Amino acid sequence: MSPFGVPSVDLLSEQIEAVLVDPATTHGLARALRAASKEIKLHRYHHASRHAWPNGRIDDKPAKVQIGGGAHRIDGFFNIDLVPPADLLWDIREGIPLQDDSAEEIFSEHFLEHIDYPRSVKHYAREAHRVLVQGGRIVTGVPDAALALSQYPAALEGSDEMIRRWYAKRDGLGDINTRLDLVNLVFRDQDDDPTYTPHLWAYDHDKLVQLFTEAGFTTVEPWTFDPTIANPKRQWGSVYVIATK
Ligand SMILES: C[S@@+](CC[C@H](N)C(=O)[O-])C[C@H]1O[C@@H](n2cnc3c(N)ncnc32)[C@H](O)[C@@H]1O
Repeated sequence: MSPFGVPSVDLLSEQIEAVLVDPATTHGLARALRAASKEIKLHRYHHASRHAWPNGRIDDKPAKVQIGGGAHRIDGFFNIDLVPPADLLWDIREGIPLQDDSAEEIFSEHFLEHIDYPRSVKHYAREAHRVLVQGGRIVTGVPDAALALSQYPAALEGSDEMIRRWYAKRDGLGDINTRLDLVNLVFRDQDDDPTYTPHLWAYDHDKLVQLFTEAGFTTVEPWTFDPTIANPKRQWGSVYVIATK
């Protein structure tokens, strides 16, 4: 316990590591603890930034913001992500750390499916609406679940395009055996990888339209892929929308 009676994250982290190296620890417990260990790391990053911005809003008012860009940085955009490299390390599940009516453009791709639905996803859509100026726009791209579903239940060929484009370099390639495995990957990709935030929800065009409409956006339309902003490797098999406040 800390001097204030709050359980210490550092102590918890040490205890988890000790249990994880114990050979008697069951697979199920180890899996849950690895997930907790990863969240503790993210919690530390987030709280270091939160310490600098205790009210959850940075002073700057970047006009263009990328959320969850990972290694894909975009010139002229302020990049916010859970982990480095980013201009600000922030857990978006805690909100978007920008001031009301301040940004003109938000861009994210292959991010939304990594946060929990409905709590964090709907909160994110409402936060995007809050921080955008009137007429501001948010572009969102995700793996297109409709594509994986449209191919089911055809037999899976070794030359399958989705495997070739998305999974060819995976360690677990040998575990992708049927068409349903590809459907499963859209819904829970890398659920078993302790270093990765897995897919937690799947999206298609209609779901994105519903989500941003519910959050108050005036229009939600298909976005034409622009490789000067988007990650070129996301063009195939993704669905993008642009929502306007
Ligand atoms: C699959 S990667 C996509 C990276 C990049 N957008 C691309 O398309 O190459 C997902 C990214 O979302 C970030 N992310 C996941 N959950 C997040 C959260 N709660 N807050 C901020 N970023 C998050 C991850 O750290 C990671 O960089």
